[in-house]
Amino acid sequence: MISRRRPPDDETLRRALYDGEVFLLPSTDASLALVGMANDSLRRELGDDPRHAHERFTDEELFGHIGKLRREIYTQPHAHALLAEMAANVGFSVRDTAFDPARLRVIAHRAFENPRAAPVYYPHRDTWYAHPTSVVTIWTALDDLEEDETFVFFPERFSRPVDNDSEVFDYDEWVSRGWSLKIGWQDRDASLKARYPSVLGESDYGPAEGFSCARGEILLFSGAHFHKTLPQALGRTRFSLDARLVHLRDHARGLGAPNVDGRSRGSALPDYVQLHDEAP
Ligand SMILES: [Fe+2]
Repeated sequence: MISRRRPPDDETLRRALYDGEVFLLPSTDASLALVGMANDSLRRELGDDPRHAHERFTDEELFGHIGKLRREIYTQPHAHALLAEMAANVGFSVRDTAFDPARLRVIAHRAFENPRAAPVYYPHRDTWYAHPTSVVTIWTALDDLEEDETFVFFPERFSRPVDNDSEVFDYDEWVSRGWSLKIGWQDRDASLKARYPSVLGESDYGPAEGFSCARGEILLFSGAHFHKTLPQALGRTRFSLDARLVHLRDHARGLGAPNVDGRSRGSALPDYVQLHDEAP
């Protein structure tokens, strides 16, 4: 299901994504620059060898350092510019694309044992978080990763409903007290208090499809794909970046994935960034 072969033109690529295909494409100068920037920030904040930072810091200390970096990467114009260039390399031109900026994800060794991290492992569709069905998720890793430290798709569920409570998610309420909760940079206990969309009952979603990848390679998939982060106890922390893209012309034409079971409220799209907004 995960293809390394890029369709001949950008429009065909985007239509394939809306149809549920997943692409793992080669790194570009922009993706490597974004990953390099994030890695430099991690080393500045956590010292050398960030992948073993969990051996040197407590959970609370790590949350403080990582929160600062998450905020930087999500808000800095330089990170936006690199993300926009990376997206333009894979079918989402700067002129036509709005994006929800990159989030730094940190899957620490044995983090699945921490109740605060529980929502990270919920199987979900990104569209359950009030993204439009035209949304495409762009994902890249800060290091070369093995298959058992990334995440998996359940391809059969792209077009088949999963029983869920996504109606609990109200975008406007989520961002009403500032964006700290949205990005996760301030309140370490937020995940214990907030309600995130989750699956009800079911646990057999059909065959899982995973992947390994090299640093900076670009994974693209519809935000309507049902997927799940893998818990890991490999003795190292996994760092990745992901952002959401909407091709505004496609969106206006009604293109996108089917909505088979999403009932979240509100829309994240008005808060997406368009790069020309930031031109001096
Ligand atoms: Fe996701």
